[in-house]
Amino acid sequence: VKGLCLVRHGETEFNRESRIGGNPRLTDKGIQQARSLAARFRDKHISCVVTSTLRRTREMADILLEGRPEVERHALREFDEINAGECDSMTYDEVRRLRPGIWESRKTDKYHAPYPGGESYASMKDRVERGVKKALYLSGNAENLVIIGHQAVNRMILSHFLFRREEDVPYVFIPQDRYFHIVSTQSRKLVELLPFQS
Ligand code: F6P
Repeated sequence: VKGLCLVRHGETEFNRESRIGGNPRLTDKGIQQARSLAARFRDKHISCVVTSTLRRTREMADILLEGRPEVERHALREFDEINAGECDSMTYDEVRRLRPGIWESRKTDKYHAPYPGGESYASMKDRVERGVKKALYLSGNAENLVIIGHQAVNRMILSHFLFRREEDVPYVFIPQDRYFHIVSTQSRKLVELLPFQS
């Protein structure tokens, strides 16, 4: 690895049920995805792995770092998934049926629409940016840094490096079996989407 590898956690039971938020663990498939990533990174130098404080990203790091005690790891609250407030643990379908106002506002302006008692993409931006700065500092400036985050958080992190238009950010595709490899210097900006499975 050279630069930053931006990984989303593997599958959870909540993903399977299209359920929002919570603190679920990886499913067997999620564990398998983590093992594929570990195999892919086996011979690569990693200086530092940064996760959120939630189980699904920490379990991913546990598997990635099995047998690699020398690699530094940190868990940052700044990288926890978007706080869905009153909708936490609901399925998207439940939000649509039971909280139609929220559903509509997210459809109209997903970037700015806040979850009552929680966050919007716009309001999580500052803390995610703070997390990026901390992670870059912890890794000695993104040399061989791996961040394991979440769908909304990874969209924000990507937009930090790519300067995407705000209204596009909530729709960036963040797969669970591929990672973004990002090199971002003054003179060179490169983003590749690479499979876990080599
Ligand atoms: O579905 C998984 C998840 O990480 C949820 O916890 C989170 O609310 C969601 O993705 C963010 O994506 P979107 O803004 O598209 O609902």
